[in-house]
Amino acid sequence: MDEQGQTLEQPSSEPAHATASQVFYHRFDLSQRIEHILLLTSFTTLGITGLAQKFIDSPISLFVIQALGGIESTRRIHHIAAFVLAWVSVYHVLAVLYRLTVLRVPLTMMPLIEDFKHLFDDLAYYFGFRKTRAYYGRYNYAEKVEYFAVVWGTIIMAITGFMMWNPLTTTQFLPGEVIPAAKAAHGAEAVLAVLAIIIWHTYHVHFKRFNRSMFTGKLSEQEMEEDHPAELELIETGNNWQRPPEDVIRRRQRTFLPVAAVLGLVFGAGIIAFVTIEPATAITTVTRGETASVFVPVTPTPRPTSAPTPTSEVSLSAGPNTWDGTYAELFSNRCGTCHVRTAVGGFSLATYQSALQGGISGPGIVPGNAQASKLVQVQEEGNHPGRLTAEELQAVIGWINAGAPEQ
Ligand code: HEC
Repeated sequence: MDEQGQTLEQPSSEPAHATASQVFYHRFDLSQRIEHILLLTSFTTLGITGLAQKFIDSPISLFVIQALGGIESTRRIHHIAAFVLAWVSVYHVLAVLYRLTVLRVPLTMMPLIEDFKHLFDDLAYYFGFRKTRAYYGRYNYAEKVEYFAVVWGTIIMAITGFMMWNPLTTTQFLPGEVIPAAKAAHGAEAVLAVLAIIIWHTYHVHFKRFNRSMFTGKLSEQEMEEDHPAELELIETGNNWQRPPEDVIRRRQRTFLPVAAVLGLVFGAGIIAFVTIEPATAITTVTRGETASVFVPVTPTPRPTSAPTPTSEVSLSAGPNTWDGTYAELFSNRCGTCHVRTAVGGFSLATYQSALQGGISGPGIVPGNAQASKLVQVQEEGNHPGRLTAEELQAVIGWINAGAPEQ
């Protein structure tokens, strides 16, 4: 709800050639235009950084997040823009109160029954039953809907944003389910708001006719005739809002300013609380659990019950009586599944050294002493998951007692 346009400006540059389009009507004052620029930039920043987080799998999001320096800085930028928008919103509430109570500007943004009539007239016009569009005042029904969509949307985003920003505080009062619910609502409202701006706002303000009044503050007479004929009539007949005398304004300000100061403090404290109660990420807030070492099983994996069939028979007599010549291959065939490709019981027969070294219960091979070798002991017990034939075991014992030569 803004100051009713009242100034009729005649550009001093070319008064001689003045035509209808060179008469301008004041529409938005500087503070409103600055407010709009802040709203525009914070909204756009929030939209870009927010949607990139919502649609994190999209290559566009990846590009945006990388361009902004990673997910952490994207979130920080989102939070800063939210902080700015919060202040813009508080400012807007105070500015509206000022216009209503001090300047006593009429409630031109309020939806009225008349708006339904305008909508009906416009539909009639679009369907060819009427020659002109509806007789709008300062704001038409489409502008009112858009305004309240922004108000309502901002409230929703602030509430759900607070819940996600401060989940621990929120869940002291509400059940935990509200956090994911807030996230869903925040994201859905974001899509709605961004689409409303891209489709609705862009069409009405930029495509239908490029309406620059929010930047220049002015509308031409022709634009006024087409878009705000009822308001133009009020201005021309002198029935529009007039700025009250300065002494009246000052008197009203004396009541307004203290109230505004208190409200400003309350809202301001609210915003500060909003962004400071909890650190920017709940992950750092939650107290750490106890530290425990990773579980390492002491008992070996359950014994496999049978050994796979050897890939090929190793002829004991063929090669030399050495690790390289015979036994490496024999063990690989008979024991490989569990002691070459893996090392069950800590015992690996992959190399000569590891075979000597043995597993968790001692040296696998003791050169010159077959009976002290774990390998022989295990095999002689006769119930090992992988077994040498009696003949092979005798050959192994002989080789070990001969000093278990490697080559
Ligand atoms: C199917 C799997 C399997 C095959 C094949 C197998 N073993 Fe084992 N082996 C084991 C398991 C399981 C253990 C651990 C037993 C335990 O801890 O009680 C083990 C332990 C051993 C150990 C004791 C290691 C230590 O230090 O505790 C030796 C020695 C051994 N095997 C030798 C052999 C030899 C020689 C062959 C080939 C003839 C063979 N194993 C084939 C499963 C196998």
